[in-house]
Amino acid sequence: MIKLTDQEFETLTTFVKRNYGINLEKKRVLLEGRLNSVLIEKGCKTFSDYIKILQADRSGIELSVLLNKVTTNHTFFMREPKHFEFLKNTILPEQEKINTRKQYNIWSAGCSVGAEVYTTAMTLHDYFGVKKSSWRFKMLATDISQNVLGKAKEGIYQEDLIKDVSPAWKNSYFKKLPDGQYQVQDSIRKDVEFRVLNLMDNFTFPTKFNLIFCRNVMIYFDQETRNQLINRFYNVLEPGGYLFIGHSETIQRETTKFNYIAPAIYRKEA
Ligand SMILES: C[S@@+](CC[C@H](N)C(=O)[O-])C[C@H]1O[C@@H](n2cnc3c(N)ncnc32)[C@H](O)[C@@H]1O
Repeated sequence: MIKLTDQEFETLTTFVKRNYGINLEKKRVLLEGRLNSVLIEKGCKTFSDYIKILQADRSGIELSVLLNKVTTNHTFFMREPKHFEFLKNTILPEQEKINTRKQYNIWSAGCSVGAEVYTTAMTLHDYFGVKKSSWRFKMLATDISQNVLGKAKEGIYQEDLIKDVSPAWKNSYFKKLPDGQYQVQDSIRKDVEFRVLNLMDNFTFPTKFNLIFCRNVMIYFDQETRNQLINRFYNVLEPGGYLFIGHSETIQRETTKFNYIAPAIYRKEA
């Protein structure tokens, strides 16, 4: 196993934190473990050799490989189900009353392989049924990892990722493939646009969102990075829009402009 020197560790962690927000200061063993196969494949004898390749690469491919290795992509369908209950029981009935334009924009930020955004799309289908066609739902799902976005677009999952999905939903929204995996039905997949986006970038969008999911992403960021990102989310939300974060994450209530609604649910003033 090729080991990191203190200097190499510092260079790599500073680079990843500055550009992608991910704090790897306590992840030395993880970094060594996950990157060793990459070093061997590239014929590098030391991490310094690898860092030189990274710095010289203009194609973006090396960076993409690094990001695929350092990101944690764990996710599953129906994760943190209280959010989907809140969507179904509070947000959607409210929208039916007040949203005369029948347009609703959702962003899954840090979407990994798509389980979160597809669970959202299924919740909308389930709630509206045939009435859904009279609405315009725009669903954007973004991540920095090209790997996970490729998988998300395909929408093919092992059974363990959909173990919390009810049999009725499995029947309606998935098709079982000959190899035993499950693929999300085209009718659900066509509603979602997947795109590479680094949450550290100063993002803007042509239209604002009504609901943003950013769950289990900010845990890897430090407090300052989190605060800045939460402000940027605030700016791209419609008044009255919601932000869902992971249940193990918090927003500092003293500094945020968001109103606290329920655990891991925040709202911009209407
Ligand atoms: C643990 S997954 C969370 C997936 C999903 N939101 C959920 O809660 O199940 C975290 C995702 O955040 C992505 N991520 C980490 N840093 C990011 C950044 N700077 N910009 C965009 N995505 C990022 C990772 O690539 C990873 O897919």
